[in-house]
Amino acid sequence: MKVLIKNGCVVNADSQVMADVLVSDGIIEQLAINIPLPDGCEVIDAQGCYVMPGGIDVHTHFNIDVGIARSCDDFFTGTRAAACGGTTTIIDHMGFGPAGCNLHHQLEVYHGYARGKAVIDYSFHGVIQHIDDAILDEIPSLVDEGISSFKLYLTYLYKLNDSEVLRALQRLNDAGALTTVHPENDAVITQRRADYLAAGLTAPLYHARSRPSECEAEAVARMINLARLSGNAPLYIVHLSNGLGLDYLRLAKARHQPVWVETCPQYLLLDERLYLREDGLKFILSPPLREASEQDALWCGVHDGSIDVVATDHCTFPYQQRLALSGGDFSRCPNGLPGVENRLLLLFSAGVMSGRISPERFVSLTSTLPAKLFGLWPRKGSIAPGFDADVVIIDPKASTTIHHSELHDNADYSPYEGRVCQGQIRHTLSRGKTVWSQGKFVGTAGHGRFIRRQPFDCKTFNH
Ligand code: URP
Ligand code: ZN
Ligand code: ZN
Ligand code: ZN
Repeated sequence: MKVLIKNGCVVNADSQVMADVLVSDGIIEQLAINIPLPDGCEVIDAQGCYVMPGGIDVHTHFNIDVGIARSCDDFFTGTRAAACGGTTTIIDHMGFGPAGCNLHHQLEVYHGYARGKAVIDYSFHGVIQHIDDAILDEIPSLVDEGISSFKLYLTYLYKLNDSEVLRALQRLNDAGALTTVHPENDAVITQRRADYLAAGLTAPLYHARSRPSECEAEAVARMINLARLSGNAPLYIVHLSNGLGLDYLRLAKARHQPVWVETCPQYLLLDERLYLREDGLKFILSPPLREASEQDALWCGVHDGSIDVVATDHCTFPYQQRLALSGGDFSRCPNGLPGVENRLLLLFSAGVMSGRISPERFVSLTSTLPAKLFGLWPRKGSIAPGFDADVVIIDPKASTTIHHSELHDNADYSPYEGRVCQGQIRHTLSRGKTVWSQGKFVGTAGHGRFIRRQPFDCKTFNH
């Protein structure tokens, strides 16, 4: 089965070229000017459009059980939404299992969640819920099974203390896995939250006040130092929301420490004034939305290269459920925002079309560097012969207004409702199969495959 994508501007992380792309049996076969049309070949006209590597969203939470609720997107609705937004691979976090459960238990559970349901390719991050010898001894066999990154939480129910973090960093590094971390200072949050609740201050704004930027930045700095103390273990900070944390990361990078950082569209585009709205519960997530000035600091990092990845942290709890569970009290509202369908478009519009970043940098942030960091390279993350034909075609001349009624997730709202974006996701190919075209989802449950990821390899990077 062959597909020819004609007349587009093919963008990779390091190049931009007018060329046709020939796909054969799901793999990119050729990239050249004026490729002759093979017999029986499907043609996609990309005139006037960018042809880019499909998005890789390395931070989603489908089906996650957070104790008070379960996120409402499963591996069908979540990957369907991703596909409709130009994303062709997701990596989901395998949290949270029952207290004390081992890593293989969660891997079985997550294979069960995704098998036969995913529309696009997928993998999972391990989540280290507790530390003991049995868990640490299990890590190498998970890496063998293609799970080459693990998440640690410094807050929430399954938070680890500093000595546990040190042990985890060391063993993960030894096993060829990348440590990712949700950095927030749990003691500060616990204290502030208790103070606000005691004073009867339960409105959504106090969610943000209870976990200020310093509390995130402190934990970022702590993790950098713990990673350095663990034999320079590679470290990946998820969902960075503020400039102080970014400055600590810049310092670590200047000292050639192997650290990388992700931010999310919500921190680049939304701010804490949304908590003052009547429907402020819709925006409760952790870390919380920040003052608008933090957006400038983060955009600067996106532009100057100190931010490496843009992912979504897609974690959907419908507004009606938030209301019902919390009665308006932030401390009883499940945390997380939807966004997997709009990541590429939002960053394309606010980043590329507004002139803040080049198309090449856009590809690096959304596909190439995620592929390299998380062991998908050299299979995904580039439009080049031999790579999977995971492709997104973006029309820069058309515009898109975001309305939840037109999205494909299972939430009942979008945090970006009514936002006008310059650009349109025209077409998504997952291993050569069209899954989204001209405004229609045409994928199938079960097309997506589990991708066994390669171990983390520091030599891929300049450290
Ligand atoms: O509020 C959030 N971000 N919920 C999802 C879980 C996490 O912390 O990443
Ligand atoms: Zn998190
Ligand atoms: Zn700048
Ligand atoms: Zn998350």
